[in-house]
Amino acid sequence: MKSAHSMTRRNFVKSAALAGAVTSWTARSWSQVMGSNSDIFIAVVGFGGRGKDHIGSFSQMKGVRLAALCDADNDILQGQLKRHEGVQGYQDIRKLLENKDIDAISIATPNHWHALGAIWAIQAGKDVYVEKPVSHNVSEGRRIVEFARKYNKIVQTGTQSRSSITGIKQAVEWVKAGNLGKIKISRGLCYKRRDSIGKVDGPQPIPPGVDYDLWCGPALKLPLMRKRLHYDWHWVWNTGNGDLGNQGIHEMDVARWFLGVNELSSSVLSVGGRVGYVDDGETPNTMIIYHEFAGAPILYEVRGLPSKKGADNMDQYKGASIGIVIECEGGHVTVPSYTAAAAYDKDGKKIQEWKGSEDHYANFIKACRSRKIEDLNADILEGHLSSALCHTGNVSYLLGKKATQEEILAAIKSTPGMEEMFGRMLEHLKLNEVDIAKEQLTLGMPLKMDPKTERFIGNDKANELLTRPYRPGFVVPDKA
Ligand SMILES: NC(=O)c1ccc[n+]([C@@H]2O[C@H](COP(=O)([O-])OP(=O)(O)OC[C@H]3O[C@@H](n4cnc5c(N)ncnc54)[C@H](O)[C@@H]3O)[C@@H](O)[C@H]2O)c1
Repeated sequence: MKSAHSMTRRNFVKSAALAGAVTSWTARSWSQVMGSNSDIFIAVVGFGGRGKDHIGSFSQMKGVRLAALCDADNDILQGQLKRHEGVQGYQDIRKLLENKDIDAISIATPNHWHALGAIWAIQAGKDVYVEKPVSHNVSEGRRIVEFARKYNKIVQTGTQSRSSITGIKQAVEWVKAGNLGKIKISRGLCYKRRDSIGKVDGPQPIPPGVDYDLWCGPALKLPLMRKRLHYDWHWVWNTGNGDLGNQGIHEMDVARWFLGVNELSSSVLSVGGRVGYVDDGETPNTMIIYHEFAGAPILYEVRGLPSKKGADNMDQYKGASIGIVIECEGGHVTVPSYTAAAAYDKDGKKIQEWKGSEDHYANFIKACRSRKIEDLNADILEGHLSSALCHTGNVSYLLGKKATQEEILAAIKSTPGMEEMFGRMLEHLKLNEVDIAKEQLTLGMPLKMDPKTERFIGNDKANELLTRPYRPGFVVPDKA
């Protein structure tokens, strides 16, 4: 929303009206008549699942006009265009970005497209709302931050917990004020049921509406070796980041928020595996991760299997399944949702509660108007750091090797908190009748990082995994 830009729109509508050009009006100019000149014109990119929520929110928001929709799957695109009359449709994001009338882009594509889509949009002069994780690897996340700053654009991360102002934010401030003493552990939990995605015995057909070259974009264009193209891309490394980088980034973000650290950890170690079933997924469904920080570590757990074999429910830890537990000298704070938190004393008695959230999409729009990064509840820098903590956890895992229980125990015992987490993980796997003597877990590689440069120290292989080989035409630029 720029005033010169609005003038162009206003003049266009006026002159078009004077010329009586009603019959030749485009959907875009028609929607202009209906709206105000100060409206923010937004396009949603990717709406297989989450993007529908973007569409629903922005299309209802006062002062915002849903002006365009873009999806690489033409069937999904047409489905939404039918519901939103007068909105322009695009299959190719590059064409959408040529549309000068669009002020902002809201991206809910698969992860491998987030950084490139965001950077192209910034270069085209748009503000950006980008889903979590904001990146598919560490390096491209940092690039978005650099582009956002260079081009002076507003870029919000889709981590909606950050808009829990009267809920989680109050709890963060209460802990920061020392009400429970020092933080000993900032613990993230992603106990979320993940079933087998099935197993195919050869390449599968691409859904007919999909432009597969575009869908793959910066990722390798591989034959589809799973049943479902959509959504299950989360569980293969070429396009996804496992549940750590899916659900898990929300909790990683809040765990980092409580600690108040604005950089990557100085060392990381993961242990895990994809166990309990054999399918086409590659990413671990069970995982523990250690991140070292000066004050206290982030300890993180992923569990995709239920509380025990055949059960419907998931485990809980101090009142949360998908949440955060901040363990302090004088008790703990549990964050069990995106909008609430509660503090408990050492005896487990609840002593404080917080709840409530603002609209995260509306917060983005507010900042688009004020042009102030400080108005954003989840500026892209926050999104980059929290996404990157998931990626480095995955890099440790990817460079690991299969190991026995004894080998893992020997390797992790000097890493604070790991042995205790591993013990509970073994118990959980036993209850799921997973025999880790047969289905061996992976002992990740311990990695040291220089948080200033966001590069691993003395490990070329790990540094290679900070980025990826991009396909020609879909390269995330090295420098802003
Ligand atoms: N903030 C949240 O709570 C939340 C919740 C769910 C998902 N998400 C995030 O939203 C994103 C999408 O998840 P999903 O479950 O909807 O995935 P999905 O696979 O169901 O949908 C992705 C859509 O993007 C489209 N797409 C792919 N490449 C495209 C391109 N180049 N241009 C335009 N469209 C393209 C696909 O065709 C598909 O329709 C993920 O990154 C996920 O992490 C966030």
